Amino acid sequence: MKFNPADKIQDLQYFGEFGGVNPSISDSSTYTFLSAKTMFDTFEGNADGCYLYSRHTSPSNLYLGEALAAMEGTETANVAASGMGAITPVLLQLCEAGDHIVSSRTIYGGTYAFLKNFTPKMNIQTSFVDITKLDVVEAAITEDTKVLYCESVSNPLLEVADIKGLSELAKKHNLKLVVDNTFSPLSISPVKLGADVVVHSLTKFINGSSDTVGGVVCGTQEFIDQLRNVNDGASMLLGSTMDSMRAASVLKNLRTLHIRMKQHSKNAMYLAKKFEADGLKTVYPGLTSHSSHELFKSMMNPEYGYGGMLTIDVGSLEKANELMELMQHKNLGYLAVSLGFYKTLFSAPGSSTSSEIPEEEQAEMGLSDGLIRFSIGLDNNIERTYEIMRECMIEIGVLSKEEVILV
Ligand SMILES: Cc1ncc(COP(=O)(O)O)c(C=O)c1O
Repeated sequence: MKFNPADKIQDLQYFGEFGGVNPSISDSSTYTFLSAKTMFDTFEGNADGCYLYSRHTSPSNLYLGEALAAMEGTETANVAASGMGAITPVLLQLCEAGDHIVSSRTIYGGTYAFLKNFTPKMNIQTSFVDITKLDVVEAAITEDTKVLYCESVSNPLLEVADIKGLSELAKKHNLKLVVDNTFSPLSISPVKLGADVVVHSLTKFINGSSDTVGGVVCGTQEFIDQLRNVNDGASMLLGSTMDSMRAASVLKNLRTLHIRMKQHSKNAMYLAKKFEADGLKTVYPGLTSHSSHELFKSMMNPEYGYGGMLTIDVGSLEKANELMELMQHKNLGYLAVSLGFYKTLFSAPGSSTSSEIPEEEQAEMGLSDGLIRFSIGLDNNIERTYEIMRECMIEIGVLSKEEVILV
């Protein structure tokens, strides 16, 4: 039977300490041992089921990690206090001084800044490439390369990575393929396509209520044990630990992810088709006009759709700002960064989430000034939302009444 991530989450049935339908929240930073010998073994990392100290792991974090590992089809997972708190230890664990990373050039601005400005201080260099061109990716690999890094669907340009193709390259050159799956939870299962490690910012769709930051690394038991190692594990030593209370609340939200993703995707598809028909330059992987539409289709778990993210280009930053302010005024959503919220969020990535990327590089990768990134919400009546959005576009002159594009 085909792998279905939502079934894997559903099949997990946890009981609380007192028979509660939710697992009990662990409210301790440290744990007692009945025998000193067990404490020693736990330090050595070989006493399963015993907890040492909550920066290492906690029962609540393990429940959430287990559910996310089930979702991604990995042996296990380690949750972190933020997406960056998951991504940065992975890269630092896999690379040491002198090593090299080949990364997609269209990735989240924070990850880009980490690879461009921070890791060179440790003599870890990164080549940024067009990830959609496998020959370009392969040409960038050197004998020092240890990691191939990409996002399944990239932020903010919605480029789609050929995970199977990249995984073949990774195997051929003995590299680890690390995939950030934040934009496409459930829709794409990177490990099933050959990725070695999957990371998420839980802050986005997985938590879905924009009330916390969080992250996760999904991988083999061996790799997660390395990250948590008390002597040289990057997760353990850099200390980006999720709080147990948060782990418990994210786990509850994860239980409704499949319903939410279907609605996000349905609404985004509806709007993308309408915007495109209106003549707006629209990018959405569900549109046949998207250069990687067929690739996404070949990789996806179809029932969850093409995700909730789309972009339109309204020609200039001024128009983008005007439109976003008006849409916010009409209660259509919020002018805010981030994604995966129940209300629609919009931002102009060039001046916000991707501002870490220098202007000339933005231009080269097609990140134009007038680009608006939408994270489409869970609106019940998306036809009504569209009508109001269209009125806003007409009001500021991005669309004319006759649906002829003016910019
Ligand atoms: C694709 C992607 N990965 C990682 C991150 C970083 O996650 P966090 O903000 O939870 O640290 C973000 C945040 O916007 C993101 O969009």
